[in-house]
Amino acid sequence: MEIRHFDRRRYPTVSVETGYGEWAATYEDTVLDLMDLRLLERVQTLDWPQIAEVADLACGTGRVGAWLREQGVAAVDGVDLTDEMLALARAKGIYRRLEQADLAATPLPAAHYDLVTAVLVDEHLAELGPLYREAARLAHPSGRFVLVGYHPHFMLDGIPTHYNRTDGEPATIACYVHLFSDHVRAAQAAGWTLGEMHEGLIDDDWLAQKPKWAQHYLRPVSFAVVWT
Ligand SMILES: C[S@@+](CC[C@H](N)C(=O)[O-])C[C@H]1O[C@@H](n2cnc3c(N)ncnc32)[C@H](O)[C@@H]1O
Repeated sequence: MEIRHFDRRRYPTVSVETGYGEWAATYEDTVLDLMDLRLLERVQTLDWPQIAEVADLACGTGRVGAWLREQGVAAVDGVDLTDEMLALARAKGIYRRLEQADLAATPLPAAHYDLVTAVLVDEHLAELGPLYREAARLAHPSGRFVLVGYHPHFMLDGIPTHYNRTDGEPATIACYVHLFSDHVRAAQAAGWTLGEMHEGLIDDDWLAQKPKWAQHYLRPVSFAVVWT
């Protein structure tokens, strides 16, 4: 579903490449680790140091790659559409390989990875099928897929993914609402089975860092799913 049906902010909408191209410089100052890394820390069914190779789809500036390497993952390959985000990931020096590509059709090898990750990107995809199919192509037969997303409940409250442009004016990055049933259907069609799931709330830890979000107290803001 397109966000325009629910959008209460009504900022002008820009494409993924324009939006993240402009946001790249300040992206890491605005995205809280509570949104995604906190949920990765809750995952029970993955033994991170035992994971040798990861394909990180929509790697952005490399926040997730850095976290994975800190957990002891040996090698992380990253793919992203936006040059400016990739440049920052490259500068971190933690990815074995970085490619500018659509996550639906990456140049990475098939049936190769212990784990595929896609963090904070599914809301930018009109369809989920291509993401789940590409993750299934990349993972080896016992590989897993971890998806962390912006929670559909939060988007239905009317808050699309947005950032402040260099002139200070806010803009929305083109995005879509996917219900959990959309995820399950797309995942099952690609051969994945639900392994584990977590939801992150706007809780006291969150308000300590972003007090202005008090109006959203206890609303779910993000989710993580481990697919096997
Ligand atoms: C919110 S950022 C998330 C980056 C990183 N995963 C993180 O958690 O910090 C979303 C990223 O998805 C990328 N992106 C959006 N659509 C994409 C697509 N179809 N293929 C590859 N990358 C995409 C954007 O360029 C951007 O870097």
